[in-house]
Amino acid sequence: MNHRREDHGGPVERIRAELTSSPDGPLAMTRAVAILKEDPRYTWVGIYLLDGDDLVLGPYLGKPSPHTRIPLGRGICGAAATSRATIIVDDVNSDPRYLACSIETQSEIVVPIMRGGEVLGEIDIDSDRRAAFGPADQHRLEAVAALLAEKL
Ligand code: SME
Repeated sequence: MNHRREDHGGPVERIRAELTSSPDGPLAMTRAVAILKEDPRYTWVGIYLLDGDDLVLGPYLGKPSPHTRIPLGRGICGAAATSRATIIVDDVNSDPRYLACSIETQSEIVVPIMRGGEVLGEIDIDSDRRAAFGPADQHRLEAVAALLAEKL
């Protein structure tokens, strides 16, 4: 399958191009968040970085979150990091793991950023729409996570 054709609007290719010319990790994360946030379904876009046994919020766009430091054992964020796998939640209000950031949030995707099997952090995206995230989002965001892993 041609991933470029799946990359509607080209966010993965734009992020790839920007990251190729930017060796700086914090700037790479900031630019990736900004480009991803252009998708109108993506209400809140942020990157958490692993610090010991906690996920610490880095660059984000959207309403300020109360969850700036999440222990690995908590939240959908903690579950994605400990399982080393992407988690999609179609209805956050029916998932007991969910840590609320905004009352408007309906669905969430969390994509680990990994290098050599080690979790460095994750991309966390909330949507105000129910079941906003599907396989194309997962594919695109895992590609972005792989690009970021090279910069962190
Ligand atoms: N909902 C996440 C917490 C982070 S906020 O959504 C920004 C979770 O359940 O881990």
